[in-house]
Amino acid sequence: TKFVNMAGNTTLTMIKPGAVRRNLIGPILGMITEHGFKVEALKLTKLSARQAAKFYEVHRGKPFYDGLVNYMSSGPIVAAIIRKDNAVAEFRELIGNTDPEKASEGTIRKLFAESLSHNAVHGSDSDENAAKEAAFFFSETERFCPEEWHCDEDM
Ligand code: PPS
Repeated sequence: TKFVNMAGNTTLTMIKPGAVRRNLIGPILGMITEHGFKVEALKLTKLSARQAAKFYEVHRGKPFYDGLVNYMSSGPIVAAIIRKDNAVAEFRELIGNTDPEKASEGTIRKLFAESLSHNAVHGSDSDENAAKEAAFFFSETERFCPEEWHCDEDM
């Protein structure tokens, strides 16, 4: 079975190296679950520079690309597939603007980001990318869905 996220009910997040380093895994996962997201897959891992380069492929050539790849491979991250209706948009609202100075009060980036480049969390920007990014980190046997979450709608 291949997850394509047809129903648009999942997104992929990473807690970035700076936030892991500052011991913010608990507070950030707490905000995510308090806002109604279910955790479907979760791991602490570290990206090599090659893996980070691949993950952020679509941004290759942009001025921030090398710095982003460097930062994202600088230490452990937490990757998670999270589930909620309209997950991509709902999660982007919860994390706030890419730049913490522009992020709304109460958003994850407003609360926890250090700067534009060290902005605490990643969230997928489309349903299609959410499916690709989920597959980048997790195999089917690493995803867990109780019957009542109706995950089969995504396949
Ligand atoms: S774009 O060009 O609009 O698609 O870019 P954007 O969506 O704003 O950002 C894409 C990812 O790059 C990160 N980013 C940066 N990293 C380092 N330095 C700078 N200046 C910078 N600007 C953007 C941004 O956080 C996005 O990464 P993720 O992991 O998705 O948050």
